[in-house]
Amino acid sequence: MAKEFLTDVKTLRARARKHIEKGAVTEGYRADRATVIRILNEALATEIVCVLRYKRHYFMASGINATSVAQEFLQHANEEQGHADQIAARIVQLGGEPNFSPEGLLTRSHAEYVEGEDLVDMIKEDLVAERIAIDSYGEMIRYLGNDDPTSRRMLEGILAMEEEHADDLVGMLDDLEK
Ligand SMILES: [Fe+2]
Ligand SMILES: [Fe+2]
Repeated sequence: MAKEFLTDVKTLRARARKHIEKGAVTEGYRADRATVIRILNEALATEIVCVLRYKRHYFMASGINATSVAQEFLQHANEEQGHADQIAARIVQLGGEPNFSPEGLLTRSHAEYVEGEDLVDMIKEDLVAERIAIDSYGEMIRYLGNDDPTSRRMLEGILAMEEEHADDLVGMLDDLEK
């Protein structure tokens, strides 16, 4: 017997007319919305902490004339900011509120804010933070599965960039240790 894969058109049309104020969130939304919003807010906090740490590293590295490393820090800071914006937009789309409060930011964040003593230290701390992000995004992606494919795909894109960041940082460490 063929698998029934689509609700009949009449039901689909009727359902769509109900609760139109919910916008993109329809009756067919399969994930637990409150949980998804909570984990996206944790991801948002993580990205904000990463922006702050990379900015600190950028300005400190600029001071010690490590121009190419500083540029890399700046690029990462900007990319983390882009991730934060994407995540905040998705939270709103899901009917939630993005938490930008500085209060409790470090508790919500998975990654830490470590200033680092010197250039090698900074790079190592950034690498640790990226590795934390890689693992937590992986878990979120597996949790979402097919229940919220839009959030999942967004996180997959972000994860791929965190992997690039980690790879860049390992390369920078290798160069410095030569
Ligand atoms: Fe990021
Ligand atoms: Fe990153």
